[in-house]
Amino acid sequence: MNEFVKIVEVGPRDGLQNEKILLTLNDRKNLVLDLMKTGLQHIEVGSCVSAKWVPQMANSDELFAQLPQSPDIQFSLLTPNIKGFESALAVGCKEVAVFTAASESFTRKNINCSIDESFEKFADVMAAAKANDVKVRGYVSCIVDCPYEGAIDSQQVAYVTKRLFDMGCYEVSLGETIGTATPDRVKKVWDACLAELDPQILAGHFHNTYGMAIANIYQSLQQGIRVFDASIAGLGGCPYAKGASGNVSTEDLYYLLSRMGFETGLHLDALMQASRNISQVLNRQNPSNYANAYWQSRCA
Ligand code: HMG
Ligand code: MG
Repeated sequence: MNEFVKIVEVGPRDGLQNEKILLTLNDRKNLVLDLMKTGLQHIEVGSCVSAKWVPQMANSDELFAQLPQSPDIQFSLLTPNIKGFESALAVGCKEVAVFTAASESFTRKNINCSIDESFEKFADVMAAAKANDVKVRGYVSCIVDCPYEGAIDSQQVAYVTKRLFDMGCYEVSLGETIGTATPDRVKKVWDACLAELDPQILAGHFHNTYGMAIANIYQSLQQGIRVFDASIAGLGGCPYAKGASGNVSTEDLYYLLSRMGFETGLHLDALMQASRNISQVLNRQNPSNYANAYWQSRCA
């Protein structure tokens, strides 16, 4: 049996949060319904954050409530504080994600507090999550470069990552937020983290601004990482990281993993249909090389 790699689909959240077009709740729901047909087992459907800060994610709790639940698919919502957690809990969400960064300046721009203060807010979320049997995933942004501070020390990344585990996260996703990293620098980050933590509980989250996401994922695979975040049709970016483009596309990640002999559980045709549908809704060119080659070969 081939080794399994877990893919966390973040397109409905990380993707749409940075798209200029504000989608209706119905369009966001249709995206998730399409993704549910692809074999994806983990889908981040939105964020319970301030709609003044990120209007694209408004009413994510309502979106969650409208989705059909499936025993095979774990939905999650981003919750930066107890207010967000309570919104997620009220609609029956069983997995949330807290997010901080290895950079003080980014944390301030993103969630309006210091790294230490972010952990104070997460302590409330953790306690409430434990009491309500909700799983908590963690994110660390700016693992290589910060748009405000430049290069980030890998030891600082390892420190913040470990702190999230010590607090109770079951998995921590390391975010290469602005997509400037190359594999040599990614290796240093994993080296620092793996000195203290098992690879099974870590995830890679690579943005593709400079086209390096697949190379960085290949490097991560060499170091034993087996969980990756991805966005259908390479959607999005981060509203607090100017110029940063979307995540690695789920389609390109699928191609890399399946060609390398990993199992992903994804169904190719449904994945391609989901990617085509959202690209049409947003009226945008799909940056995924694999998706474009797939559709070209079907037309030939
Ligand atoms: P704040 O202004 O410091 O919060 O914002 P506050 O507690 O002072 O409250 C101010 C107002 O926000 C109040 O409303 C609160 O009720 C409301 P008002 O009285 O003015 O009408 N509020 C909320 N509303 C909805 N949901 C909440 C919530 N909390 C307070 N949870 C806050 C703090 C975190 C809310 C704000 O900074 C925020 O919403 N930031 C958005 C952060 C965000 O979504 N960033 C993008 C996701 S992270 C990311 O993309 C990186 C990642 O992909 C990894 C990577 O690539 O690196 C994960
Ligand atoms: Mg991101």
